[in-house]
Amino acid sequence: MDRPSERIEDTRSGSRGSPSGSMTSAEANAADSFLVRVLRQDGPGLTSYWETHRVAREPDMNCISVLQKIAERAETIEGRRVAPVAWECNCLEEVCGACTMLINGRVRQACTALVDRLLADRPGEIELRPMTKFPVIRDLVVDRSRVFAALRKVKAWVPVDSYLDMGAGPRQSQEDQELAYQYSKCMSCGCCLEACPQFLKIELVRGKGESETDFRRRLDEANRQAFLGAHAIAQVELFNLNPIGSMTARQRLDVLTGEGGVQICGKAQNCVKVCPKGIPLTTAIARANRAAVRHVVRKWFDL
Ligand code: SF4
Ligand code: SF4
Ligand code: FES
Repeated sequence: MDRPSERIEDTRSGSRGSPSGSMTSAEANAADSFLVRVLRQDGPGLTSYWETHRVAREPDMNCISVLQKIAERAETIEGRRVAPVAWECNCLEEVCGACTMLINGRVRQACTALVDRLLADRPGEIELRPMTKFPVIRDLVVDRSRVFAALRKVKAWVPVDSYLDMGAGPRQSQEDQELAYQYSKCMSCGCCLEACPQFLKIELVRGKGESETDFRRRLDEANRQAFLGAHAIAQVELFNLNPIGSMTARQRLDVLTGEGGVQICGKAQNCVKVCPKGIPLTTAIARANRAAVRHVVRKWFDL
């Protein structure tokens, strides 16, 4: 694949210019094509670079259909043939979180990012780039395994010890059910982590001769020490609210008050502003903080 000459550090300057020149918003929206700037990366740890594609406009496009159009032609505006841009998607209805990326600078899902709206806000051009807090695997595909590692760490599940019919479970108040429902909508997309100033990127380089097992072990250790993130804190609340889940609440609270726990949160509240599911993350963090204090005091007095 040809290496484009345009580099990431060059393109943020004022020399970039408008792809649509002096086009007005109305003219640009009536245009039959638009430009898509994609921040590409050929593999983990490699230098990223910008590439621009022209895409024919069709009714009701979203950013996934834009990427499909780019894959069909795989040609830049300079006419250079390139490898198709890599991206991930599954559900196409904002449920799986796989297509999360930065679209015109805002973290969101590509499947629900509608082209008409994007072009109305920024005529003539759409910018796609991978999330910055996760290691890039290729182009717009990032390694979100840390999101799931945090869920494993806090034991984000209700333990069941058999498949026997044990009858109706314990009752839960209407209030708790309503709150739990909000938390249960989390799709592990990573938007809240991308926006969080306390959630820092971890990108380890595999050492020469280091086995996959050793590398994974090192990565697990780095993840274990780092901030859990708002999504995992909300899941602690979800499973501790559950009458059966509450039986293992202390284990979750041990994690929440340990290394990388809720105390790292600086309460900047960026997370709640970007969550596509509208999950009350700041409520979860406040509740988790109170539960953490109670837990520590109880442990102190050996209760
Ligand atoms: S409130 Fe806490 S978790 Fe949310 S963005 Fe701020 S520091 Fe991150
Ligand atoms: S809490 Fe919201 S933003 Fe964070 S992972 Fe879950 S759905 Fe995504
Ligand atoms: S494809 Fe599942 S959220 Fe976009």
